[in-house]
Amino acid sequence: MLAVHELEIRVGARLLMEDVSFRVEKGDKIGLVGRNGAGKTTMTKALAGETQPTGGKIERTGEIGYLPQDPRSGNPEDTARKRILDARGLGELVEGIRQATLDMASEDPAVSEKAMRRYSRLDDQFNALGGYAAEAEAASIASNLKLPDRILDQQLKTLSGGQRRRIELARILFSDAETMILDEPTNHLDADSVVWLREHLKTYPGGVIVISHDVELVDEVVNRVFYLDANRQSIDIYNMGWKLYQRQRAADEERRRKERASAEKKAATLKDQAARFGAKASKAAAAHQMVARADKLLAGLEDERVADRVAKLRFPTPVPCGRTPLMAEGLSKSYGSLEIFAGVDLAIDRGSRVVILGFNGAGKTTLLRILAGADQPDTGEIQPGHGLRIGYYAQEHENIDVNRTVIENMVSASTELNETEARRVLGSFLFTGDDGYKKAGVLSGGEKTRLSLAMIVVSGANVLLLDEPTNNLDPASREEILGALAGYEGAVVLVSHDAGAVEALNPERVLLLPDGTEDHWNKDYAELIELA
Ligand SMILES: Nc1ncnc2c1ncn2[C@@H]1O[C@H](COP(=O)(O)OP(=O)(O)OP(=O)(O)O)[C@@H](O)[C@H]1O
Ligand SMILES: [Mg+2]
Repeated sequence: MLAVHELEIRVGARLLMEDVSFRVEKGDKIGLVGRNGAGKTTMTKALAGETQPTGGKIERTGEIGYLPQDPRSGNPEDTARKRILDARGLGELVEGIRQATLDMASEDPAVSEKAMRRYSRLDDQFNALGGYAAEAEAASIASNLKLPDRILDQQLKTLSGGQRRRIELARILFSDAETMILDEPTNHLDADSVVWLREHLKTYPGGVIVISHDVELVDEVVNRVFYLDANRQSIDIYNMGWKLYQRQRAADEERRRKERASAEKKAATLKDQAARFGAKASKAAAAHQMVARADKLLAGLEDERVADRVAKLRFPTPVPCGRTPLMAEGLSKSYGSLEIFAGVDLAIDRGSRVVILGFNGAGKTTLLRILAGADQPDTGEIQPGHGLRIGYYAQEHENIDVNRTVIENMVSASTELNETEARRVLGSFLFTGDDGYKKAGVLSGGEKTRLSLAMIVVSGANVLLLDEPTNNLDPASREEILGALAGYEGAVVLVSHDAGAVEALNPERVLLLPDGTEDHWNKDYAELIELA
């Protein structure tokens, strides 16, 4: 379990939180919420023991399973299967058994006999550790996270960011850790997997701290809510589920507002009287007391809670282009012997809106990458139209160079932008003051999304290719970005599990993968989004 005493966390010169104390017991399902950049990820890193807090104490008992927001863990040479099974110390054994099985087929009797002995020794150990049942359990978790055998046999270094993240999640769920800390676990999951994960977390007997922009998951799983208030650098703890929390919080705000109004009124009356009394020498002492009482009333008030600032976003007018800025013909892509899609044709007209639908693994991200020129198709070709300028938003924020500063990234995204203008645009994406000089690598998930979109905006793109742009965004920023998208004059090709995002885009057409069939958008497709 986890006990936190007077935790203080600073990054650079900035205080993220202080005087934070709480315990996490078995059965606690904690939803950690707060706006983008509040410090949720930074805090959970400290809880998991990956970093040291600047103050306070964190006690851990039992194993902790930690899923970072942006994981790159594990030996890249290892297979995915080994990575998962290693969570219970079984990975080495499975690999050993596999190698022994191969060696047993050797022509050389010396080799094959040795392999046979090795096999039987490893197999005994594996059995003793409950290996076969455990392996079946791991396989079931992996399959629920849409990780088929084919992927489990691949080395980590050959997998996409999304696949690696699912491997890490499978590993943690398999580990039987006493406490799990999950930072945005639903990113990269399809709707089936999200539903499965919700159930799994609900019935999980240990403690859980989860950060998620998936409101349904938070609503169904959580029995305590920790609200990290970036304006007060502190955490409000509510020991209740999500819906009650929202009501309670609104009631608290209302109570504070009333208390403040009433105290201010009393103080004003007191000061008023004091001013009248003050004119007479005989009443000076009383007047003095009244002013003191009024000041005390005001001082006792909690500071007014400042509402979170939200980026006011508007995507600028795109550079001019021809009638059909982007066309593609006969696109196909396979990975090894596995065909992802074949024979996909596409024509994106100026200012048009297209949604790409298809199940996980149907190649939606692959198709966007190919359209963006980040990947080559096996057959077919992209035909850029007159004046085409593509703005590609990738889930992994691939357009961001993590070793350069925020401003350097902005300047490199556009041919016309100088530093002053870069700062102005950044301001409208809520990066202020020294934020521009931060290395992009230290940005929070939501901040990276904002930077990535800001870079697209300054490039004057007339065709946006957006891959799950609303992941990681807090609700207020999500609304702003969807609003800006709705008013954008260029063409948009969107991949998203977020039904609200698709609705906001108001698409005309849908492209279905893996067949590549095109259709007019209609309401029936809306139901498919979350399944996809
Ligand atoms: N090493 C660092 N140097 C400077 N600033 C940092 C560093 N690490 C993190 N930050 C800043 O601290 C703030 C908190 O980041 P964190 O990733 O914890 O936010 P978060 O609450 O997880 O946000 P999100 O919801 O977007 O994931 C951000 O503004 C981030 O840029
Ligand atoms: Mg985060």
